[in-house]
Amino acid sequence: MKGIILAGGSGTRLYPLTRSISKQILPVYDKPMIYYPLSVLMLANIREVLIISTPRDIHCFKALLGDGSELGMSFEYAVQEEPNGLAEAFIIGEDFVGQSNAALILGDNIFYGSNLSNTLLEASRIESGGVIFGCPVRDPRAYGVVEIDENHKALSIEEKPEFPKSSLAVPGLYFFDNQVFEIAKNVKPSERGEKEITSVIDVYLKQGNLHVEVTGRGLAWLDTGTHESLNNAANFVEAVQKRQGLYIACIEEIAFRKGYITKQQLLDLAKPLLKTEYGQYMVEVAHSVYEKEIITA
Ligand code: G1P
Repeated sequence: MKGIILAGGSGTRLYPLTRSISKQILPVYDKPMIYYPLSVLMLANIREVLIISTPRDIHCFKALLGDGSELGMSFEYAVQEEPNGLAEAFIIGEDFVGQSNAALILGDNIFYGSNLSNTLLEASRIESGGVIFGCPVRDPRAYGVVEIDENHKALSIEEKPEFPKSSLAVPGLYFFDNQVFEIAKNVKPSERGEKEITSVIDVYLKQGNLHVEVTGRGLAWLDTGTHESLNNAANFVEAVQKRQGLYIACIEEIAFRKGYITKQQLLDLAKPLLKTEYGQYMVEVAHSVYEKEIITA
C-alpha cells in the first residue's frame, strides 16, 4: 500500500498564522504538524508517501522532509493547483500509487491512542473496498458524518450535515482499494465546487464495500482547525510526552523501531537536534533496552 498526505488548503481559519505559511507546517508543540499524519502512515507500514500541497507551500515540505531516505522512507511531492477538494488527491496521486491500494491522510489530522498501530495495520491489509473510521464527537456538523446500524454496517454518509444522523465524525484517514482512482475521476463537484471525499466514500457504501471502524475512548482524534483547537492539541501532546516520556509522532523513533534505520543512523539524525528535548529523546530511544516491547508514537 502507498500513502498520500494532502497538505493543501488556504488555512484562512487560522489567519494571520497562515498568511504566508502552510497550516500543516505550523508547530504542534515541538514538531511540525505534518509529522503527525506522516507518523500514522509509518505506523501502518507504509513506506512510500506522496505529499501534495499548494504551489506556494510545496517547497517548505521538500525542505523539511527531503526524499525520505534518511528515514528509510521514500517521499515524492506533487502540487494541487486549486483547492478542488480532497478527492482530487486521488487524481493527482494516480500515477504515484500505480497498481497498489492507497491510504489518504489529511495533513492536519492528529491521532493518538493505545491500539492505534494495530488498528492501522489491520486497515492497511484490506484487499478490496474501503475502510474509514467513525469517531464520536460532541458536534459532528463540521465533518463527514457516517450513520451505521447495530452490526456496524454503514447506512449513510454526509458531508457537514446541518442535522447529523449520528455523532460519528469521519476523520481524515481513509484506506481504499485501487478502484478509488476511477471513482474519484467520476465524482461530481459539490455545491461548494469541491470533489468531496464523502462522495467517494458513498460509492463504496452503495457497493456494500465499506468498512467503518468505530473508535471509542481509546483513540484521541484532535482537531487543529482553529487557534483554540491548535493550542489544545499542542497542550495535549506536551502533557502526554512530559508525563509518559514517550513521544507522539517522533518519526525518527518509528523509523528506528520499524527497523528502517540503524541505531547509528538514529544517533546521527539526533545530532543537529541535541539542544532540544526532542533530540535528546532520540538519543534515549537509540540506547533504550526495551525498544522491542514498546512501540509507541
Ligand atoms: C474534511 C472532509 C470531512 C472530514 C474532515 C476531517 O473536511 O471533507 O469529511 O470529516 O476533513 O478532518 P474539511 O477539513 O476540508 O472541512
